[in-house]
Amino acid sequence: MTVTISIGSGKGGTGKTMTVVNLALLLAKTGRKVCLIDLDIGGADAHILFGLFNPKWTLTDFLTKKVGSLTEVVHTFYSHHGLQFIPGTGNTLQTANLSYQEKRRLLRGLAGIEADILLIDVGAGTNYHALDFFMFSDLQICVTLPDPAAIMDLYTFLQLATIRKVLGSFLSQSEVAALLKNRHFNALQEVFELAEKTMEGAKAEAQQALRYFHPLLIVNRDSAGSRINPFKLRKMVEKYLNIDIPELGNIPEDPKVDEALKSYMPVCDLFPHSPAARSLAVIAGKIDKIVTLFNRNKISHNTSKSAEKISV
Ligand SMILES: Nc1ncnc2c1ncn2[C@@H]1O[C@H](COP(=O)(O)OP(=O)(O)OP(=O)(O)O)[C@@H](O)[C@H]1O
Ligand SMILES: [Mg+2]
Repeated sequence: MTVTISIGSGKGGTGKTMTVVNLALLLAKTGRKVCLIDLDIGGADAHILFGLFNPKWTLTDFLTKKVGSLTEVVHTFYSHHGLQFIPGTGNTLQTANLSYQEKRRLLRGLAGIEADILLIDVGAGTNYHALDFFMFSDLQICVTLPDPAAIMDLYTFLQLATIRKVLGSFLSQSEVAALLKNRHFNALQEVFELAEKTMEGAKAEAQQALRYFHPLLIVNRDSAGSRINPFKLRKMVEKYLNIDIPELGNIPEDPKVDEALKSYMPVCDLFPHSPAARSLAVIAGKIDKIVTLFNRNKISHNTSKSAEKISV
C-alpha cells in the first residue's frame, strides 16, 4: 500500500525542496521503500540537491511520451538506502502548460508507482497544477516561513485548494456543477452557500469532501520570537475554512542548510548533528508513525482516506 504525501506552500522559497529531499532520505533510512517525485512543473530543482545535474531521464520523457510509464524515469540511489527519485521537468513550454489529459495521465502514472511512501514536491503557488497535485495525495504537508507574508500566502493557498476540492466534488452533480462552473470564488463559504441554494444538502456534501483534509504544518527558518504568526494562521484556517492544521514540527534557521546545498548534498547526510538535521529527523519520525497509523486505519476501515483518526 502506498501512502502519498504532497508538500506545498503558498509562497516560493519556503524550504519545501530542502525539507522533502531530507525527509525522503530519512524515511528511506528506516527501511521503507520511498519514492520522491519533483512535480514543481517549470521550477524543478530537487535533482540538484542530490548532486544530479543532468539526469539521464526525467519527467519530461514521460510527459512527451518518450517513455510509456513513469517507472521508466525512476532513478534509484543505492548509496541513499535505495531511495527512488523522479527528477522534474525542465522549463519547456509544452510541459509547463500541461493539458487536462496530460495531467490525468500523470496522476494515473503516480498511482502505478510501487513504494511504501510516495513524496511529491508540488512547487509553490496557487496555479491549478499545484493545487491539484497537492490535493491528489492521501496526506498533505505545508511548509511555511514564520513571517506574515508567507503565512498569508499559505492561507490563500489553503483556501483555493479547499475551494477547488469542493468544486471537484460536485462534478458528478450536473445541476450544481453547471451553476458553479466558470465562476470565481473568493471564499469557501460562497461556494457552500451557492451550492446549497441550488440543491438542498449540497453544503453538507461539500463539507464531507474536506472531512479528511488536515494538512500538517512545518514552520521553517523558525526562531524563538516568531511563534505568533503560525498560531494566528491555525486559528484563521479553523475559523474560516473549518479545517484543522496540526503542527508537524519546526526547523530552525541553520547556516548548515546552505553549506550542504553548496556541496550538493542533503543536510541530514552531510551534517546529521546540525540543528536543522535534528529537527528534520524528529519530523521524519513523526511521519513514519503517521504512515503506520494511516495504513492500519486503511486496513481496518477499508477506505483509502484514513487520515481522519490520525493526530500528531
Ligand atoms: N532552515 C533553513 N536555514 C537556512 N537556510 C534555509 C533553510 N531552509 C531553506 N533554506 C534555504 O532557502 C532557500 C530555498 O529553499 P528551497 O529551495 O528548499 O525552497 P522551496 O520552497 O523549494 O523554493 P521554491 O518555491 O522556489 O521551489 C535555499 O537556499 C535553502 O538553502
Ligand atoms: Mg522547490
